[in-house]
Amino acid sequence: MRPTTALFASVLASGASAENYLGFNSGATLPDYSAKFKKDFEAEFRTAQNLENAPGTFNAVRLYTNIQAYSETDPTEAFEAAIETNTKILLGVWASGTSNIDNELTALKKAIDKFGTKFTSLVIGMSIGSEDLYRDSETGIKNKAGVGAGPNVIVKFINDYKKAVANTPLAGVPIGHVDTWDAWTNGTNKVVIDAVDWVGVDEYPYYENGKGNNIENSGQLFDRAFAAVEGAVGGKPIWITETGWPSSGPTWDLAVSSVENAKYYWDEVGCRKLFNKVPTFWYNLRDSNPDNEMKFAITSNLSTKPLFDLTCPTTFQTTATMTSALPSSTDASSTGSNGGSSSTGSSGAASSDEAIVEGSATGKAVSAVAVLGLTLVAGLFALF
Ligand SMILES: *[C@@H]1O[C@H](CO)[C@@H](O)[C@H](O)[C@H]1NC(C)=O
Ligand SMILES: *[C@@H]1O[C@H](CO)[C@@H](O)[C@H](O)[C@H]1NC(C)=O
Repeated sequence: MRPTTALFASVLASGASAENYLGFNSGATLPDYSAKFKKDFEAEFRTAQNLENAPGTFNAVRLYTNIQAYSETDPTEAFEAAIETNTKILLGVWASGTSNIDNELTALKKAIDKFGTKFTSLVIGMSIGSEDLYRDSETGIKNKAGVGAGPNVIVKFINDYKKAVANTPLAGVPIGHVDTWDAWTNGTNKVVIDAVDWVGVDEYPYYENGKGNNIENSGQLFDRAFAAVEGAVGGKPIWITETGWPSSGPTWDLAVSSVENAKYYWDEVGCRKLFNKVPTFWYNLRDSNPDNEMKFAITSNLSTKPLFDLTCPTTFQTTATMTSALPSSTDASSTGSNGGSSSTGSSGAASSDEAIVEGSATGKAVSAVAVLGLTLVAGLFALF
């Protein structure tokens, strides 16, 4: 009986992983750091599914943790909201700043026991970790991106998770890890590639300072990084777990935040390259990190009428060659980050794969920071 069930589950899972999910990311807290509850998640999921002129139904969500904010091992109320709205769930386990993922696994098991297949049938994947390798990399450390975890830790947690769900309906759900694109092209991290069923990639051309990151080049920068990951992961399916362009906030090297540019990026990266072609979790439906001056939300207040028209164009601006690909005068104060890119910038920046490989999601760690802070808070609570 068991082998049959396991086989059936894995057939289901592999069938499911071929689907090109459309969704957004959802953190555990609101912009004032208060916990999101079922009603908050439900409002997000309903808006996502009803966005005007969307190029498909955004009925999937990527979560960063199984744990309800400020709780120790209670399952996130996002699960109940997902059940209520029939939203597909890409689960996440927070894997940095901890020696084990026991609380994450306890919360998950509680949800399986409480909701059964109403919950498990919605789960499309599990990511063990989020940008842990980036935060632990040279660039991440230079950017003070926060506490990360190395490749061996991620692989250990993947194995811990596999053991924990072995006899549950989640046994066949495909396992991934989410990281910035340049973490996947770093050979030291190959053990993680070997350990996962799919590769989750966070890609932000906006943050690629020193590479000619003006909006007109965003499509090419995205494509180059995507191709570099494809070249590194040996045919494992790629899921784009975060990407987007801010509609407001400071300029980042040549990258200007504006609603117009957010729309350009939606068209040239989302419509041209991703939607209905690659499993995609856009960043984002709503902002949740007040510390990030860049605002990525495509709605101002969960209105189903977004900041810009989501209609996909039928022709695109992105061509094979980049415009103004010359390295710009990287303003160190704007980033504190890409010293590496300015040093290789002289090679012609975006035309050099090396420069691309040195790129990072820099400011991107911000989405993770809120979650990490939360995890630390939860950890503190656990001490009392
Ligand atoms: C490559 O990955 C390893 C392990 O994650 C990390 O220690 C190292 O800093 C990374 N290299 C660069 C250039 O970021
Ligand atoms: C929400 O934002 C939309 C436009 O994005 C606007 O039309 C609407 O009035 C706003 N609603 C509230 C309650 O602020």
